[in-house]
Amino acid sequence: MKPKKVTKAVFPVAGLGTRFLPATKSIPKEIMTLVDRPLIQYAIDEARAAGIKEFIFVTSRGKSALEDYFDNAPELESELRRKGKTEMLEVLKDTNMDSGAIAYVRQNRPMGLGHAVWCARRLIGDEPFAVLLPDDVIAAEKPCLQQMVEAYAQTGGCMVAAMEVPPARASSYGVLDIKNDLGAIVEVKGMVEKPKAEEAPSNLAVIGRYILTPQVLNNLNRMKQGAGGEIQLTDAIAEEVGGKAGVYGYRFRGQRYDCGSKAGFLQATVAFGLSRPDLCEEFGAYLNDMIVQRQAAQ
Ligand code: G1P
Repeated sequence: MKPKKVTKAVFPVAGLGTRFLPATKSIPKEIMTLVDRPLIQYAIDEARAAGIKEFIFVTSRGKSALEDYFDNAPELESELRRKGKTEMLEVLKDTNMDSGAIAYVRQNRPMGLGHAVWCARRLIGDEPFAVLLPDDVIAAEKPCLQQMVEAYAQTGGCMVAAMEVPPARASSYGVLDIKNDLGAIVEVKGMVEKPKAEEAPSNLAVIGRYILTPQVLNNLNRMKQGAGGEIQLTDAIAEEVGGKAGVYGYRFRGQRYDCGSKAGFLQATVAFGLSRPDLCEEFGAYLNDMIVQRQAAQ
C-alpha cells in the first residue's frame, strides 16, 4: 500500500538563538537573513516545493516577528503598487500565506526538539508529517524535502535526512546505526542523539529534515528525557526501529549549511550571494580581491 501523502510540516522555531546574541535579543533567529531572505523563507519554500499545504510553527515568547512576516502588509503593498514597483510586489507574494494554511502553537518551556514537535500534536493528528529545522539550509537542485517525499513513497515509515560528517563532529548530531546501506536510502537499526565521538555507531548524521509517522507523537507522550536532559526527537524516532514501518536515513543530494553556527551562516551567505545573478559579479570580484590581499599580507 502506498504511504499517505505528506501535507503538513512542523517548523520548530522556539529556540532562543543564544549563539547569535546580541542580534537575537530582539529578532528571532529565523528572521536573520541570507542575502535578502530570512532563514525561515528558505524552509517554507522547500516545504512548498515538496507539496506541503499546512505549516505549523512551534514558537515561543518574542517570536511575533515571524507571524508578521507571513501576514499581508497592506500599507507596504499599496505603497509599492502606487509607485509601480511590481517586481517587489511579486517578491512579497512568497511571504503571504493563505489564512488557515499557517498555524502557531507555543512551546512554553524549552524542553527539547522532541517536546517542541509534540506541542504540535493536535494540529498534526493521525497522519504522516514533515519536520524542517530552519537552521539547516540546504541548497539543492531538487529541494531536499521533495527528494525525501519521493523516497518515502517507496519506503513508508520514518525518514530522516542524513549526511556523512567527520567522526569528531558526530557528537553534535543525531547519528544513525546502519542496518542496510542501499545507497541513497539507508535502513536504520538504531539512532543515538549526540553520542561521544568514540561511541558513535557511524558517521552518518541526521540533518534537520524529517518525515515521521504519527506513532512518533505517541512515543513523545512518554516524555522520556534523553541527551542533555531534553526530550529528544531522535529517541522517539529510534523507538520505531523494528516496528512495522521501520526507520530510514536518506542521503540527500545538495549542500547543507549549518546556519545555527556563525561560521556556517557566513559560508551560506557567501554561497547564496555568489549564486545570485544580480550579485555574483560584484561580490565574486570582491571576494577575489580579499583573497589576494590576505595572501599578500601573509
Ligand atoms: C538537532 C537534532 C539532531 C540533528 C541536528 C541537525 O540538534 O536534535 O539530531 O542531528 O538538529 O541539525 P541541534 O542542532 O538542535 O542541537
